[in-house]
Amino acid sequence: MQTLRALILLSSGLVAAASAQTDSSLRAVATARGISVGAAVTFPGGNNIANRPAYQAALAANFNTVVAENAMKFQNLSRFGNRDTTRGVYNWGPADSIVEFALANNMKVRGHTLCWHSQTATWFNNLTGAAASKDTTLKILKEHIQLLAGRYKGKILEWDVVNEAIAQNGGTSPAYRTDSRWYSRVGSIEYIDSAFRWAHRVDSNALLFYNDFGGESMNAKGQNIYDLVSGLKQRGVPIHGVGLQAHFSVGGFDTASIGENMRRLAALGLRISITELDITNSGTVDSTKLYAQKENYKKLMALCLSVPNCKTFMAWGLNDAQSWRGANTAALLFSGTATLVKKPAYFGVVEALQGSSVVALTPAARGNLSTPSPALHRGASGGVIGATDARGAVRDLQGRSLPASVRRAMRP
Ligand code: G3I
Repeated sequence: MQTLRALILLSSGLVAAASAQTDSSLRAVATARGISVGAAVTFPGGNNIANRPAYQAALAANFNTVVAENAMKFQNLSRFGNRDTTRGVYNWGPADSIVEFALANNMKVRGHTLCWHSQTATWFNNLTGAAASKDTTLKILKEHIQLLAGRYKGKILEWDVVNEAIAQNGGTSPAYRTDSRWYSRVGSIEYIDSAFRWAHRVDSNALLFYNDFGGESMNAKGQNIYDLVSGLKQRGVPIHGVGLQAHFSVGGFDTASIGENMRRLAALGLRISITELDITNSGTVDSTKLYAQKENYKKLMALCLSVPNCKTFMAWGLNDAQSWRGANTAALLFSGTATLVKKPAYFGVVEALQGSSVVALTPAARGNLSTPSPALHRGASGGVIGATDARGAVRDLQGRSLPASVRRAMRP
């Protein structure tokens, strides 16, 4: 029983919390290890932000980097509310506010994204004939990159220059997405080479990335990404890294294979960043699942630390309620909205950065975390804020016992 309790304490981050003198926030431990750790953000005017001050405070306290989940996309920049703009007219408000927030809080910014087939401006989509020729399309892309990368010159750590250009079916020919207007109008991947060259000319200090999903491991799509970026390197295109988006599910990824892929990319002299991490649960989420998710997050940060050139680790959102994967999948590091609560996954990432070994709880040990299972308790906003432990005590997800006033406000 003693051993079991020790395991649970270690796994829940209590050991780290016990050394109260040191700052063991994710931001502090990541910064100490030279890791840019961040979240995708949606403010202002984001999705149902019940308590914007709490959201911003949690970001600044726990991360040293942010990325705009949507605000820097061509379509978002080309709209004021529901009103589409025309060529060259941009709504900079939301993107500016994110960059200003980051600078005010001494945080870095990932830029997402300069060139993506999805979420392009309506006026661009509607072009036909000569207005959609190869030359005009390249001119539009160049102008867009100059405006966007130019506006934030010197303020962006890493730009996702080209996002998701490879077809999802990976191994079959052609390897490139044919539903991309950039690809179909230009007629080749010349637009990819050019996008990197233009971005480098505009902001020579930003690290330039190719970013994609589904090719994180040694699979067919991973091979196509590898082939694309090796070609770019061979042609002298200024590419500095590959973004592995990492939209995963608990237990649904192969760490060894991802590590092998990261190492072969690093051997090309590239950085590898985890750019859009979320790890979904299925079905009813109980504490057993949240602790399994914690181990998954921990494994990925440990992997990042173990391979060369992995220096950036971004979650795709701050809290479950606002995740594009759906609040019910509890995919991120925080629960709650008005009150944001660090989940076991958060402490998993912290533990990996602190170098504590991965504790693989046995099913029996996990079973003791909640009796009966599931025994999660939710706050008024529906987020999980506590769990019943093996002795029937109600604790928060960091293992601390909760005061009666908080317990009274909980609902199972
Ligand atoms: O802001 C409008 C709102 O005014 C409107 O009422 C509502 C109605 O649907 O839509 C809102 O916009 C949505 C926006 O998210 C903000 O919630 C868009 O419809 C919706 O398409 C958009 O989805 C985003 C998606 O990219 C498409 O841009 C997701 O938030 C965002 O998480 C997702 O992120 C992508 C990465 O950029 C690239 N990699 C994959 C990743 C997940 O799809």
